[in-house]
Amino acid sequence: MPGANAFGVLPGFRDQPVFAETRVRFRGEAIAAVIGDAATIERFDSNHFPVTWLELPALLSIDDALAEDAPQLFDGRPGNVLVRGYVRRGDPDVALAGAAHTAEGDFETAFVEHAYIEPEAGFARRVGDGVEVHVTTQTPYMDRDEVAAVLGLAKERVRIVPTACGGGFGGKLDMSLQPFVALAAWLLDRPVRCLYSRVESMATTTKRHPARIRARVGADADGRLSAMTFDGDFNTGAYASWGPTVANRVPVHCSGPYFWPSIEARSRAVLTNIVPAGAFRGFGTPQAAIATEALLDELADKLGQDRLAFRLKNALRPGQPTATGQVLEASAGMAACLEALRGAWHAGRTAALSHNAATDGRTRRGVGIASMWYGCGNTSISNPSTMRVALKADGTLVLYQGAVDIGQGSNTVLAQICAETLGVPLDRLTLVTGDTARTPDAGKTSASRQTFVSGRATQRAAEALRAAILRRANAGDAAAIVFDGAQVRVRDGEVVRQIDLATLPVNDEGDVLAGEGTFDPPTSPLDENGQGIPYATYAFGAQVAEVLVDVDLGTVKVLRVTAAHDVGQAINPMLIEGQVEGGIAQGIGMALMEEWVPGRTDNLHDYLIPTVGDVPAIETILIEDKEPLGPFGAKGVGEPALIPTAAAILNAIRDATGVTIRRVPATPDRVRAAILAARAER
Ligand code: MOS
Repeated sequence: MPGANAFGVLPGFRDQPVFAETRVRFRGEAIAAVIGDAATIERFDSNHFPVTWLELPALLSIDDALAEDAPQLFDGRPGNVLVRGYVRRGDPDVALAGAAHTAEGDFETAFVEHAYIEPEAGFARRVGDGVEVHVTTQTPYMDRDEVAAVLGLAKERVRIVPTACGGGFGGKLDMSLQPFVALAAWLLDRPVRCLYSRVESMATTTKRHPARIRARVGADADGRLSAMTFDGDFNTGAYASWGPTVANRVPVHCSGPYFWPSIEARSRAVLTNIVPAGAFRGFGTPQAAIATEALLDELADKLGQDRLAFRLKNALRPGQPTATGQVLEASAGMAACLEALRGAWHAGRTAALSHNAATDGRTRRGVGIASMWYGCGNTSISNPSTMRVALKADGTLVLYQGAVDIGQGSNTVLAQICAETLGVPLDRLTLVTGDTARTPDAGKTSASRQTFVSGRATQRAAEALRAAILRRANAGDAAAIVFDGAQVRVRDGEVVRQIDLATLPVNDEGDVLAGEGTFDPPTSPLDENGQGIPYATYAFGAQVAEVLVDVDLGTVKVLRVTAAHDVGQAINPMLIEGQVEGGIAQGIGMALMEEWVPGRTDNLHDYLIPTVGDVPAIETILIEDKEPLGPFGAKGVGEPALIPTAAAILNAIRDATGVTIRRVPATPDRVRAAILAARAER
């Protein structure tokens, strides 16, 4: 693309250049954009592209990058470490030395691909003195700022219009083709579109971080948890992406939803020459849960205690400090989730015992349980959302909402919150969604925050519209509002006043009255020991997985999952069930089959994801421990649904076979090898 020279060195987005210029850091990194009509691009053969390659040393694994003699391939990152996270409370070394029982182990997880139905796609065009990008994204406002930085334009001159999104899961928190189509449309003054093939998508976009974790846990003779140490290294690939978020979240969450008197947790995001690992549903906490929950099972067994009862005894309760010293006053429904799973747990145990007693041992049934907790929103930094609801002269109510619905249902949930607050039926609302030129900044669809943060902002916006109407009618707070076409009637005691909307001045959008609301969840910075208030609220949950293991083949079939999640308040139970079922499907993939290998599995033939045949019956139990800050008491469930699944499945495999699987995915060869190794040891 010769015109790019007009910009000289293109400014990058965050630490990542739009085009690598002299050094490519990973296979799949863009070096140029080739633009043409469809037929030309169809004929284009990249083998004839004029580029000369010189192979340089590459760091592919965490071990490669951390080796003492490893080359320093990343400027300003000594030891190839991008960022570290740390949380410390009490003295776990002393506590572990005095513990009645301890368990420890090493665990390893793989790169995981988001595998959304819809790959990256979008188009850009020049409009007036600006550029418009229509694209599948989780983060329109950040895209706007980054595209503006790349083009050297004021951000008001860039408009991002999110298209209907066929899945995000964190993969669309980074720009993909946005800078390419924006730049091309800008330079050529023609509309330019781009669609990644599945192979291009899988080869070049972010992945879940592979983790290497060592953890140690201890309990007293009664089975009270006393101490934990946790060290997690995460292969963050060639650029930062959301590696810092993963490194920050893991030490905060690796305790699981339990009370530990002492804990020390460290994380490192390690740079390598692989596609960047970035955001993926849970930001590192599903990996951490695999380690923590496996070790809790080992501790429970050493204590001779029921594994659910052991978790319940140690569940974090209101009034107890978290690993960061935060004391939750409300909406900490962990114990309630575990209590709600008792029936499924004991039924599963009974079914497993009878299966295992009745068969020849070729197949073994097992039941596993794992818990989760998860802070909703950004970690210790401002994370606001703003919403606007307005009335048009004809009485149409419009919710201007910039939260991108990536399939989770925020268009529905936010509209429900708005309608409920205004006291109108849902079908009275018209939505204008996710358009940086028309909707206020709702932040990212990320970190399970939209119901909680944007939901509260929506409630406030609706309250502000109500207040504006009452002011205009000179009515008190308790007055009732009736929306009746172009008339709004306000009944304040005996007095009824009428507002004739057609007589009011209109703004650019054609609105005559509006209310805006903002919510920014209260948090505080973490100190050098990771102590502070990283999140305003946390989701809690636990899942019970039942599996059937073929001991000879090493295959694992998930028979049933029962999930209990504390959602604060279920705004839309059916959408929550959808989130839980989707999360469990992804958790099954992470546990049993998904492993992206650079250059080898860039397609959905070699990279396996669960199909309908792999996903069992799922029962969802909703716990509603209201969050006072949330809209009607609600908090998030998007990532929470996935976090405990893989851990519960691995614990079920252990229950069935007696073998702890320390490396995921638990493919048949690995399960079989672990069973054989355990037999050889006996
Ligand atoms: Mo997510 S990993 O916050 O899309």
